[in-house]
Amino acid sequence: MNGNFGKIRIAPSLMCADLMDLRHETQLLAEGGIDLLHIDIMDGHYVPNFTLGADVCRMLATRSPIALDIHLMIEDVDRYLPDFCLCPGTIVTFHPEVSYHPLRTLQTIRRHHCRAGIAIDPALSLEGIRPLLDYADLVCVMTVNPGYSGQDLIPECLGKLAQLRDEIRRRALPVVLEVDGNVSWGNIPSMIECGAEILVCGSSSLFDCNGLPGNLEKLRRLCDPAAARCGA
Ligand code: DX5
Ligand code: ZN
Repeated sequence: MNGNFGKIRIAPSLMCADLMDLRHETQLLAEGGIDLLHIDIMDGHYVPNFTLGADVCRMLATRSPIALDIHLMIEDVDRYLPDFCLCPGTIVTFHPEVSYHPLRTLQTIRRHHCRAGIAIDPALSLEGIRPLLDYADLVCVMTVNPGYSGQDLIPECLGKLAQLRDEIRRRALPVVLEVDGNVSWGNIPSMIECGAEILVCGSSSLFDCNGLPGNLEKLRRLCDPAAARCGA
């Protein structure tokens, strides 16, 4: 459990932070009890966009106290894994459809002492990824099309999230469920209800125009109403 968000962990989507003020923003996040940073890596091929890169990840890994949750929206994942499997415990997530052998890619991430995740594009069905669940530590359910912030939720993805939750429970797998995309104030309750344990919060909530300190408090209240009621 991280800083009093109850059972929920918050992973701020750094592509939505004020990149001109990254040191201050990451300090505010750390002070606010955040213990996971979601870093979107895009190559302009798997998704038609570019964001942060390996240098930012290396800098954060060495100079920020917050663990990294690296989301690789890139082709040729196996070639670049060494650039992102930076320190033990880093979450490294990739989209299985870009790997010829996704099970081997998961094993490689774990061999680097990192936590292995698969990200499920909205158009990807669960059939193909069921065998991978035995080799994954995390599944990131994309609730928007990958590549851009500021998009609207694709509602069908919540059903997929709930199906995954039920399958993970039925098989008693130690797999954590994360949602990524339009994690908005209005969508958070149903995302948690459908099984989300890590919320990738971007421009729809944490980094909206109301400022980090107030939004961290609002997130606390939303994710852990009991703690909020007793003013924890
Ligand atoms: C989408 C990104 C997300 C997210 C950003 O590819 O992976 O980090 O959409 O947050 P929102 O959707 O709230 O702007
Ligand atoms: Zn992401």
